[in-house]
Amino acid sequence: MQKNERVSFGSKLGAILAAAGSAVGLGNIWRFPFEAGNHGGAAFILIYLACVLILGMPIMIAEFTVGRHSKASTGKAFGILAPGTQWKLIGYLGVLAGLLILGYYSVVAGWTLEYILASLNNGFAGQGPEDFVASFQEFSQDPLRPIIWLLAFLFFTHYIVVKGVKDGIEKSSKIMMPVLFILIVVLAICSVTLPNAGKGLEFLLKPDFSKLNADVFLGAMGQAFFSLSLGMGCLSTYASYFGPDTKMGKTALSVGAIDTMVAILAGFIIFPAAFSVGIQPDAGPSLIFITLPNVFQQAFGGVPFLAALFSLMFYVLLALAALTSTISLHEVVTAFLHEKFGWKRNRAAILVTAFCVVTGVLSSLSLGAWDAKFFNLSFFDLLDFVTAKLMLPLGGLLVCLFVGWYLKKSVSRDELTNYGREKAPYFSVYMFILKYIAPIAIALIFINELGILS
Ligand code: PHE
Repeated sequence: MQKNERVSFGSKLGAILAAAGSAVGLGNIWRFPFEAGNHGGAAFILIYLACVLILGMPIMIAEFTVGRHSKASTGKAFGILAPGTQWKLIGYLGVLAGLLILGYYSVVAGWTLEYILASLNNGFAGQGPEDFVASFQEFSQDPLRPIIWLLAFLFFTHYIVVKGVKDGIEKSSKIMMPVLFILIVVLAICSVTLPNAGKGLEFLLKPDFSKLNADVFLGAMGQAFFSLSLGMGCLSTYASYFGPDTKMGKTALSVGAIDTMVAILAGFIIFPAAFSVGIQPDAGPSLIFITLPNVFQQAFGGVPFLAALFSLMFYVLLALAALTSTISLHEVVTAFLHEKFGWKRNRAAILVTAFCVVTGVLSSLSLGAWDAKFFNLSFFDLLDFVTAKLMLPLGGLLVCLFVGWYLKKSVSRDELTNYGREKAPYFSVYMFILKYIAPIAIALIFINELGILS
């Protein structure tokens, strides 16, 4: 591959922020709270944290290794590192997962735009909890409105991806990430001071292990992969743009810490708010869209301007977080088509966007007008299940096997130590986890889910 021509991120911080921008998204703020809510709260969160630490961190470093060493996007990287073998299928699996996620993810990203508009029009003023539930249902089941927002979001993503890595991805991440973090802290403080917030905090912090079952483990593992953007080569594609001085271990820890902090803070926003107004924490994908408007009304309802301002800030934040993630999903597939078939980036990107328009529209319709069920799931839920709970953990498992067993150990060591210029005292623990612990853990969670263990 044209090693010397490949563009790279302008700085080490840029690399961290771009990777964190991919990781932090709807997964943290929309998906984490509803998965935690569906699976009983604190116990799920503990298992989630264990998954991030034991599976997420080593696999992230392994993906970084694959990306930077091959200097290619995930679709090509395995072919370069293991020519003439079938390992390249890991890359293809990842590209497919990215493509499938981008479709339904953009639907939810589009919802944030509707809520930005509603905040601007002060559309939440004077409404109560039931009104928010009803208006969300009415909106998400509408055959047209969500689709218009979905298209807007996809086109915006398309535009940034076409502008290229340094100008588009890095610059936007550098501005968006810090803004996002500040806003989220402010909102968490507002939420925990609501009346009755205590019950929400208890749900978040007091584990009830009697609720543990196979679904909780699969859910927590899937959420960890989804939230960290792992198992599909997204971070390995970004790592192919890392400079030679970027430290793998430190970058992975920073990304993992930022991502986890945002998810936990989102929990501190959503659950106190939900309990405060009597909304069930297992409301599913609608959770943040029905609890949040309540927070703004309850916390600042006396001053309508403030209520509107805070809800505007929140949904703008969510849209930005989603955008840095959709950019990364799009980039994986676009870079794959560009490198594999030699198509111009522009042309590759158009194809990706067109495909996602189709899956996105179908996902959106499947929440209302189109009531077909696949294994008892709507098309939207099917895409979420297949990608987050099957494809990503499977991709992660294969990356462990590839880096742990196939790739030369010296390659891993060189990448982790920047060819001897840095220390990596954790190297042998890392290799042990990649070889044994992580693959066995993932396999056990899969097997457990199939009911073979119970
Ligand atoms: N991690 C992103 C989020 O939390 C979603 C994502 C998954 C992005 C996989 C890229 C790859 O929203």
